[in-house]
Amino acid sequence: VGATGWATLGTTATTRPSSGLPTGEPLALPPELVSRQGRLDVALTAAPGASLAGRLAASWGYNGSSPGPTLRVRPGDVLAVRLRNGLDQPTNLHTHGLRVSPEGDSDNPFIHIAPGETFDYRIAIPDSHPAGTFWYHPHAHGHVADQLSAGLAGALLVDDASEPAVTADRVLLITDTTLTSAGPVAADTASRMAGRQGELLLLNGQHQPVIPATTGDLQRWRLINATTSRTLTLHLDAHQLARIALDGNTLPTATIGDTVRLAPGNRTDVLVRPDRPGTVALTAGTEPRRAMGMMGGAATGGETEVLATLATSGPAQAPSALPTFPAGPAPDTGATSRARRLTFTMGMGSGTGPGETGASGQGMTFGFDGRAYDPARTDQAAALGAIEEWTVTNPTPMAHPFHLHAWPFEVLADSAGTPTTGTLQDVVLVPARGWARLRIPFTTVPGRSVYHCHILDHEDLGMMATIAVS
Ligand code: C2O
Ligand code: CU
Repeated sequence: VGATGWATLGTTATTRPSSGLPTGEPLALPPELVSRQGRLDVALTAAPGASLAGRLAASWGYNGSSPGPTLRVRPGDVLAVRLRNGLDQPTNLHTHGLRVSPEGDSDNPFIHIAPGETFDYRIAIPDSHPAGTFWYHPHAHGHVADQLSAGLAGALLVDDASEPAVTADRVLLITDTTLTSAGPVAADTASRMAGRQGELLLLNGQHQPVIPATTGDLQRWRLINATTSRTLTLHLDAHQLARIALDGNTLPTATIGDTVRLAPGNRTDVLVRPDRPGTVALTAGTEPRRAMGMMGGAATGGETEVLATLATSGPAQAPSALPTFPAGPAPDTGATSRARRLTFTMGMGSGTGPGETGASGQGMTFGFDGRAYDPARTDQAAALGAIEEWTVTNPTPMAHPFHLHAWPFEVLADSAGTPTTGTLQDVVLVPARGWARLRIPFTTVPGRSVYHCHILDHEDLGMMATIAVS
C-alpha cells in the first residue's frame, strides 16, 4: 500500500486512517531539549495541528510535534515549563513518575489551565532522583484520554553521568489514535467504558517505521506505553532484549528475553545488540479487554501488530556481553506502619458495591470504593515518613492499571503470580477479579495528589481518588 496522501482521507466514511499513512520510513526521534547549568527552561504550547511524523496536520501536539519534545534533565535540576493552552478545553501537565512535589506550581494534578491561558510550572528534581525514563502528558480530569489519544505526550529523561555509553539512545514512545484528515475521532460511550483503542498504533508518531542498526551496535530503547488503554506485549524477533529498567528505576539484574509487557503508563528500558544482519519485526500484542457482562461482554484487543522493523546491516559478529547499568536505590525495607485496602469500582448506578450490576438505565459508576472522583474530598491521608502496605482489589471483569503519583511503590505480590522485580514502579496492572499488594514508602515529599486507573477513559469517568501525605 503506497502513501496516498492525507488529503484523500475522510472523503469516504470507510477509509481507515492506516490505509493512507506511510510505513517503512526511518525512525524519527522527537526534538530534544537538554538542561544546562542546572536548569531547563521550556515553553510548550499544547495545540491542534501537530505534524505526525511530518505528515499529518490533524493530530494534537506540543510545539507542533507529537510526541512532544524530549526533555532531558539531571538530578538536582530545576525544570521550568511555561505551558500555554492552545486547545479549546482545559489542560495541564503531569510529569508521570517523577518523584517530585505534587503541590503548588510543581507536578500538581489539580491545576486546570483554561483555553488560551498560560501556566508556569517549576519542578525541582531532588539530588537523589534516580536516572531513568519518565514522561509527561495532560491530566485535566475529563479530558485526559481525548488529549492523549490525539497525540499529547512526550518523554522526560533523567540522565546520570555514570551510565555506560551506548551507540544509540532512543525514545520509543507508543501511542494509538483514530484520526481523519479533520482531526482526532472522539470515542463512543461503549469504547470509553472498555477503554478506547485507536485504529493506528504509532511509534514516535510514525506507522511502522524502520529502526536502523549496524551489527555490534548497542542500542538503548526507552519504551513508553502512552496508549490510553492498551496493555502491550512487545516482542522482537531473532534478537534478545535485555531489560534494564522499569518505570525509571534500574532493575537489580537485567532480565534477558524476547518479550516485555507494558501496561498503560509503564516504561521499560531495554538494551539491544544485534549480532547478525537482517530485517526483523518488533511487534506489539494488545491484551484482550472485556467490558462489563451486561454490556454484551464484548472483548476488544487480542491482536498483534507490527510496531516497527529493525533493519541491521554489517557482518555477523560473536555475541558479546552487555554492560551493567548502576543499580537504582533498593526499595526501603523498613517496617510498614499501616495497611489499607482499596477497591476498583465499576458498577451500575451510584453507591452500589463494586462490580454489582444494578438496575439498568442508570449511569455506570467508575471509581474507588464505590465513589467517583471528587477533587474536594481527601480519600486517604498518610504520614510523611511512613511505609504502608496497600492491597488494591479488583472485583471487575477487566484488568485495571493502578497508578499513584509522586510516591512509587514496590509490588510485593499479585493474584496472577507475576514475578516481583525488586525495584519501585509507578503503574501496576491489577488482574481482573484479582488483587495486587503494594509497599509504598511515603518517605520523600509531602503533598496532596491522586491515584487512578491508567486506562485514561476510566480516569476521566471517575476512577481516581485523592491522597494527602503530611
Ligand atoms: Cu500518567 Cu496520573 O498519570
Ligand atoms: Cu480501569
